[in-house]
Amino acid sequence: MAVSITSAFWLDLISANLLYIYFMVCIALYNLKGGVGKTATAINLAYLAAANGLKTVIWDLDPQGSSSFYLNVQPSIKNESRKLLSNEITLKEAVQDSAFENLWIVPSDMSARNADVVLDEMKQSKKKLKSLLSGLRNFDLVILDCPPGISLLHDNIFNAADWLLMPNIPTTLSIRSFETVLHYFKENELDAGKIKCFFSMVDHRKNLHHEVMQEFYRDKIFFKNYIPYLSDVEKMGTHQQPVFEYANSSYAAQCYRDLWQEIKKTCL
Ligand SMILES: Nc1ncnc2c1ncn2[C@@H]1O[C@H](COP(=O)(O)OP(=O)(O)OP(=O)(O)O)[C@@H](O)[C@H]1O
Ligand SMILES: [Mg+2]
Repeated sequence: MAVSITSAFWLDLISANLLYIYFMVCIALYNLKGGVGKTATAINLAYLAAANGLKTVIWDLDPQGSSSFYLNVQPSIKNESRKLLSNEITLKEAVQDSAFENLWIVPSDMSARNADVVLDEMKQSKKKLKSLLSGLRNFDLVILDCPPGISLLHDNIFNAADWLLMPNIPTTLSIRSFETVLHYFKENELDAGKIKCFFSMVDHRKNLHHEVMQEFYRDKIFFKNYIPYLSDVEKMGTHQQPVFEYANSSYAAQCYRDLWQEIKKTCL
């Protein structure tokens, strides 16, 4: 009798597609604030995950299309980002190869700016992204490169992602937006346990950066490893590549590797 209950349970999971979703992990690079290193981190972590053998997709949700630019991939269909959210095309049609083994991308275009309007017209408008993600269940890891802000799209991201990875520059305003996000999670009864942070663009010459970091390291929500402000990271724009491709033995590359090791232990 116990055997038949167990098999029925697994059959239910398979028919609801839940078994597959369970094995794919989704990490969103998110911050309310812009220009804090979300895209640089999304690209470099996705590269390291793929190099570790994880079948990885980076989904560019930002109309700026920065991660699409770094991987040199453009959408193949006009207004693809909008059509993806409105079910006119499938994720399978939107996923494209990158130049790297085990790494794929869902690129974005300017039509991604309409995400909130498209989502607002749908049933279950806060859960749409989560249901779309089931189309990527054959991958091991999905990294969402998010635009800054808090909107309906972000509610979708908060529901869909297993982890929200927030880069924070250790300055007063950056920390203020981090606290605003925590407050938003509490007010909307969202799971704040999925928020993990790391310090980004750290400038060792600035006392304020040291002071803010010491204060927030007491909070386990922050990873120990951080990314300093380094010109090798800035050069990703000119090389149009992850940092490992043109500066593999640099300090910048090592910092991303150390951060990735720490993230892997917690999130995968
Ligand atoms: N650790 C770093 N050191 C130096 N420059 C950096 C670092 N991280 C990112 N940058 C640079 O800062 C700028 C913003 O970085 P990035 O695009 O990753 O931020 P973002 O949070 O994704 O921005 P947005 O909110 O506009 O999407 C870019 O020019 C990038 O090259
Ligand atoms: Mg970005």
